[in-house]
Amino acid sequence: MIIALPKETTPHEKRVALTPEIVSRLIAWGYQVRVEKNAGTAAGFSDKDYHSAGAEIASDAAKTYAGADIVCKIWAPLPAEDKYLKKGMTVIANFQTLDNTKRTDKFAALGLTCFALEMIPRISRAQSMDILSSQSNLAGYKAVIEAVNRLDKAVPMLMTAAGTIPPAKVLILGAGVAGLQAVATAKRLGAQVYASDVRPQVKEQVESLGGRFLEIPNDENAENAGGYAQETSENYRKKQKLAVSEQLKKTDILITTALVPGKAAPRLIDKEMLALMPNGSIAIDMAASAGGNIEGSAEGKETKISGVRILGASNLASELPNTASRLFANNIYNFLNAMYDSQQHKIVFRFEDELVNKTCICKDGEIR
Ligand code: NAI
Repeated sequence: MIIALPKETTPHEKRVALTPEIVSRLIAWGYQVRVEKNAGTAAGFSDKDYHSAGAEIASDAAKTYAGADIVCKIWAPLPAEDKYLKKGMTVIANFQTLDNTKRTDKFAALGLTCFALEMIPRISRAQSMDILSSQSNLAGYKAVIEAVNRLDKAVPMLMTAAGTIPPAKVLILGAGVAGLQAVATAKRLGAQVYASDVRPQVKEQVESLGGRFLEIPNDENAENAGGYAQETSENYRKKQKLAVSEQLKKTDILITTALVPGKAAPRLIDKEMLALMPNGSIAIDMAASAGGNIEGSAEGKETKISGVRILGASNLASELPNTASRLFANNIYNFLNAMYDSQQHKIVFRFEDELVNKTCICKDGEIR
């Protein structure tokens, strides 16, 4: 049985789906692992590292995919890779399934079995396999670093002989996985951190990280059965705009992460609100790829409105490719480990298990 690790072909992607450490564990299960030349180079893992872990290094994509039983990737194969996909292959990756149904049709037509790791149910047993959490967590950290790097002020309070400098103020809108890590990171750097979320139960989590919760009175049900946010009402949006506008007047760094599954990102900040921020402030819109929380932000670009530099974040986890790959590879390993049958000495996908059932988007060519 062969597990293949191709080099990512998505532009600017620096991560790799398996690390040498995980490769050696798969080999210990009795699998043969084939790694495409330079697959891990951008993430700091050399061909030599993979070779020492027991992998075979293939000189190109065609040789990597040839005869593979399981293919592990960060992103689903792009159309240019379709020629390597053969009936009976199992592909494990982030398929961005909900936004890419046509590609799923194609994978089914090619006779593949595909596991979309972004569909892992958010239950306790699956936390160690949750790529959305592991990567969002890093993205939240990196967003703060990116903002701080651009800010023309020091972040912590400085008491020096030359004078006292107050701490920078950071506002984080959306305190899910990315937002909470942003709170923790900004706090560690010495900022005064405020955060808000439509889900009131997040207050305690923000406070436990040393942040202050910006409360917006809400008597509506903010959360759906899956624990995700719902779209907010006109009334809530008005109250939110008032409270956030007041806070923006003293905010040096604004980080927005608000998402509502299956919908465009909620617009939380308009140009009028940006104009309230002190000159030289920084805003990072982590929802830029979903339409943006901030008016005027653009994915992968930096814009400037009323003196505020706005970065439309794009794949921030890939900017920490070594750590991000380690966590992604651990997520894949934990998923496969839950499937590994130690009696049969192989990975067995049991469809009665909800981890398998909910992540499998096509099986032996059939859409599920
Ligand atoms: P997400 O990426 O979908 O959204 C980010 C945050 O934006 C959320 O906290 C959401 O409430 C907030 N938001 C949405 N609309 C907003 C608005 N209009 N104004 C202000 N904030 C708004 O969320 P994420 O990080 O994926 O987490 C979603 C849920 O899943 C959370 O309850 C989290 O605790 C839970 N979770 C559970 C896991 C598990 O048990 N395995 C793993 C990870 C997350």
